[in-house]
Amino acid sequence: MANKVAVFRKEHFNAAHRLHNPLWDEATNDKVFGKCNNPHYHGHNYELIVKLTGVPDPATGYVYDLKLLSDLVRDEILERFDHRNLNLDTVEFKDLNPTAENIAVVIYDILREKIAKELDLHIRLYETERNFVEYPAI
Ligand code: NI
Repeated sequence: MANKVAVFRKEHFNAAHRLHNPLWDEATNDKVFGKCNNPHYHGHNYELIVKLTGVPDPATGYVYDLKLLSDLVRDEILERFDHRNLNLDTVEFKDLNPTAENIAVVIYDILREKIAKELDLHIRLYETERNFVEYPAI
């Protein structure tokens, strides 16, 4: 479709996690996940970038009101995950390893329900300054 524009909202949250596969023994978990397998958990400063792509509304000129996107991300994502232990405090990661990949997919699924289907949604999640993931993969 012509004249599509991408808009972005950047947000931030802190959360603790532990990467662990309960089907494996401790040695295998340690080998695969290293420090991220620490049984006492550890934290990350996550940077979240939500991207919406669509045709600007002729009346407003907006693809999506970024104030509303900010409110949506705050209410649906930050309230849920900020300052939480992802393994212990959230239903989403009770039985799902909270890797950056899985966190990005979970965030996408939550927001996808709340955003009009005409808009493409894309998530980029930084776990560290140098390590980040994108979903869907392009
Ligand atoms: Ni980690």
